[in-house]
Amino acid sequence: MNIILLGPPGAGKGTQARKLVEERGMVQLSTGDMLRAARTSGTEMGQRVAEVMDRGQLVTDDIVIGLIREKLAEGGKGFIFDGFPRTLAQADALGALLNEAGMALDSVIEMQVDDEALVRRITGRFTCGNCGEVYHDETKPTAKPGVCDVCGSTDLKRRADDNEDSLRTRLLEYYKKTSPLIGYYYAKGKLAPVDGLADIDEVAAQIGAALAGK
Ligand code: AP5
Ligand code: ZN
Repeated sequence: MNIILLGPPGAGKGTQARKLVEERGMVQLSTGDMLRAARTSGTEMGQRVAEVMDRGQLVTDDIVIGLIREKLAEGGKGFIFDGFPRTLAQADALGALLNEAGMALDSVIEMQVDDEALVRRITGRFTCGNCGEVYHDETKPTAKPGVCDVCGSTDLKRRADDNEDSLRTRLLEYYKKTSPLIGYYYAKGKLAPVDGLADIDEVAAQIGAALAGK
């Protein structure tokens, strides 16, 4: 099964993708994580995208499509596209890549969350630098302050683009360039809206129900 998690910054895409990986053994393909990894390892591409990401703008289609093409070629049991596609050009490219590989897209989960909640979520988020677990100051704190529940690491970080200025740009980019994908996938009969404002386990249950029988 191959699915897309579609939603604005902070909607909970990464959080739910990690649950699906754990529960179903699917492969998470997060273009955001791939781009951050390229930055950390200091590749030429990573350096080129760093400033664009910190400002909250989208990086160019050819870069992210190239990243997804490489990952699909590695194979896997079922893919969760997290943060991709984000433009109509990316959506068309994904359709063509899946087609070439003889794969289908089963569902597009649209995570609906209002802007006010997004600001609270983004400004309270921190992530484990070792295992990638995502936390929140209020809704998902670590059991022991400063220590990751999953791997015990103390390397807990906040993202450079999780500030109010960049978030404003990220939201504008989302509404301008990504939200047209809602109609695009609705027209293809693939769209499954879930209430992203519910608590984490309830959202997971709604996603499970949307995927039942797929
Ligand atoms: P990316 O890394 O994809 O960031 P994003 O889309 O802004 O999404 P986030 O990771 O911020 O949020 P999320 O929905 O995963 O929420 P999370 O689960 O963490 O992209 C970053 C940048 O990379 C882009 O700006 C762009 O520059 C570039 N980029 C990436 N992909 C690209 C592409 N395809 N094309 C072009 N450029 C691209 O949750 C957020 C917080 O809320 C956490 O603290 C979590 O604990 C909490 N939380 C989650 N769910 C709940 C819940 N149900 N209730 C309460 N709290 C919750
Ligand atoms: Zn960890």
